[in-house]
Amino acid sequence: MRQISWICCCVILIISCTKKVGADLEGSYSDKALFDSAHNQNYRYYKNDSITILPGTHGPHGTFKLRFNSIAYRALTDTGKLPLQGKFPEGSFLVKDVYKNGVLDIYAYMYKRNGNWLWGEVHTTGKFEYGSKDGAAVCLGCHNQPGNRDNAVSFNFY
Ligand code: HEC
Repeated sequence: MRQISWICCCVILIISCTKKVGADLEGSYSDKALFDSAHNQNYRYYKNDSITILPGTHGPHGTFKLRFNSIAYRALTDTGKLPLQGKFPEGSFLVKDVYKNGVLDIYAYMYKRNGNWLWGEVHTTGKFEYGSKDGAAVCLGCHNQPGNRDNAVSFNFY
């Protein structure tokens, strides 16, 4: 009898542990993890310009700077832009630093995973306006506008 309850105990332990591992793996591409990545200050600025705050008058976001992780940056082979018909590779991360009255306020980002973009818009405080569950409905409908390059649109205007 004691042996049976011991086995039961083990089984329950294993099941609960496995569940936890599942949740953690999911978490590595969670909105929270992408928010953490968006802080990364080693990302390279669009056209290597870390100073200029661009007007952002063509979209809803506001004034901004644009940063790329190294995977995305390597794809910018057309005078600093993604070539027409080009695709960003898996793992590309584009972060738009949106400024409000000259102060960094929001990260709008797109992260390529399994060939699709995960989208998010989050305040520097960590408060989300939109997460990856909203992206297809809220972001893509505008980002697939004519002239987009793999759903990135800044290249049209800057
Ligand atoms: C109504 C149109 C529109 C919607 C909706 C929109 N965007 Fe944008 N976005 C733009 C435009 C236009 C730019 C180019 C820069 C500019 O002029 O603001 C841009 C730029 C960006 C960039 C820089 C990379 C690029 O595409 O050039 C990111 C990242 C971004 N948006 C994220 C998002 C996210 C995340 C959402 C949804 C929560 C979203 N956008 C919704 C129009 C839109």
